[in-house]
Amino acid sequence: MTTEQKEMVKATVPYLREHGVALTTHFYKRLFEFNPDLKNVFNMGNQQNSKQQTALAMAVLAYAENIDHPEVLLAVLDGIGQKHISLNIRAEHYLIVGEHLLASIGEVLGEGATEDLLKSWEAAYFQLADIMSGHELELYRQQVQKKGGWTGWRPFIVKDKVRESSEITSFYLYPTDGGKIADFAPGQYISVRLFLPELNLLQPRQYSISTAPNGIYYRISVKKETSTHPTPDGMISNRLHDFVSEGQLVDVSAPAGSFTLKDGVHPIVFISGGVGQTPLISMMESLINSGSERKQTWIHGCRDQNVHAFREMIELWATEHDHLERHVFYSTTGHELNKEGHYEGWVDLNRFRTEVQITADTEYYLCGPAGFIEKNLRDLVKLGADRSRIYFEEFGPQTLHLN
Ligand SMILES: Cc1cc2nc3c(=O)[nH]c(=O)nc-3n(C[C@H](O)[C@H](O)[C@H](O)COP(=O)(O)OP(=O)(O)OC[C@H]3O[C@@H](n4cnc5c(N)ncnc54)[C@H](O)[C@@H]3O)c2cc1C
Ligand code: HEM
Repeated sequence: MTTEQKEMVKATVPYLREHGVALTTHFYKRLFEFNPDLKNVFNMGNQQNSKQQTALAMAVLAYAENIDHPEVLLAVLDGIGQKHISLNIRAEHYLIVGEHLLASIGEVLGEGATEDLLKSWEAAYFQLADIMSGHELELYRQQVQKKGGWTGWRPFIVKDKVRESSEITSFYLYPTDGGKIADFAPGQYISVRLFLPELNLLQPRQYSISTAPNGIYYRISVKKETSTHPTPDGMISNRLHDFVSEGQLVDVSAPAGSFTLKDGVHPIVFISGGVGQTPLISMMESLINSGSERKQTWIHGCRDQNVHAFREMIELWATEHDHLERHVFYSTTGHELNKEGHYEGWVDLNRFRTEVQITADTEYYLCGPAGFIEKNLRDLVKLGADRSRIYFEEFGPQTLHLN
């Protein structure tokens, strides 16, 4: 790109940001009008709550804004790339998205969209698209090089369906072809794809693998997302709970994701809210299986004992392993609060005196709703944790940018 082109692109970013909703609404309308097959690729639930509209187009604008020093955004590109490969996004898709995004930019800018300006945006977009699809190709290459690895969608059979709590159920998934499955880094997720008759579409969703790698099956543990009127129930989680039974097939993509357990010797604190416990359970079980002596503290919050999945399993782990401790917060009162290590209310790190030491050399892994992560991350930093050792994952498009 020439210096003039970069300047032109940068000059229009604030305007496009200001009109972000118009831009993204235009973009998705066009994209799905011309390529309705892509409705099977995007999460149409996120389209409803407008999270995804913001994520893709805003990432392009952030890139354009930083076009003089794009390296600042490279760190986040891995997380996006992991999501893309989990959804089988290929280099040719970038051409389609580019066409509609550039047309939408032109439409939003109206008369201000000169030919030179549009050419500059085209150069900026394809520069980013090349970086991203190149990185994703490398991730696909790594997937097929793994024993039992694959790319794209592979049919799996649900061999067991186990109720873990009043709203969380586990699904044990085995490949129907009888082949091996790829190992994964504890904390990674798979995408599961189902046909939704009410939409007449296939729909993918991500689910963290909730066990340590075992070479034979993947277990996912899914919360039934029920909503109060007028918001509809979650589409895939309800379908899995109510209609997908043992013996049925689902499409699965290979494990992906960058929220993974780091090697090391430092103590670890896991902090989860609700079903956010799934990737952390995989991490804990992997540490146990490896015989690691690292000190592990698990702090979990949920409404009450009825919705508390894996309670007995983790109680047992804590009894059997001296270096594993657990603390549980229930936001509603009940008899279970009498137990040692149980607290009333939402997870509040400020309430610990000596039970949990927040130190700079400890690693922290957080998973739960956005507000939960935000609060606990801020508390951790205030209480002395090192920000660079705090890792987190949000169960949806990454909307948190916490420094
Ligand atoms: C990396 C990652 C890992 C994950 N791991 C897990 C896991 O281990 N376990 C797990 O249970 N989930 C996990 N999730 C979440 C999961 O992918 C799904 O998002 C979740 O199951 C909800 O999907 P759904 O199809 O049921 O809901 P959707 O239909 O996608 O709806 C999502 C939410 O939006 C609400 N909604 C729908 N329509 C509207 C509307 N018009 N207005 C406002 N709100 C609306 C729904 O009630 C629902 O709560 C993970 C997500 C990610 C990104
Ligand atoms: C330069 C181009 C692109 C950028 C900057 C971009 C950016 C993003 C971002 C920021 C996310 C959210 C990541 C997260 O959930 O954490 C995302 C997700 C996604 N992207 Fe892209 N993307 C690009 C190209 C594409 C292309 C070409 C496709 C394919 C048609 C695509 C399909 C998707 C899908 C399906 C998701 C997940 C959406 C969901 O689950 O709702 N993206 N992308």
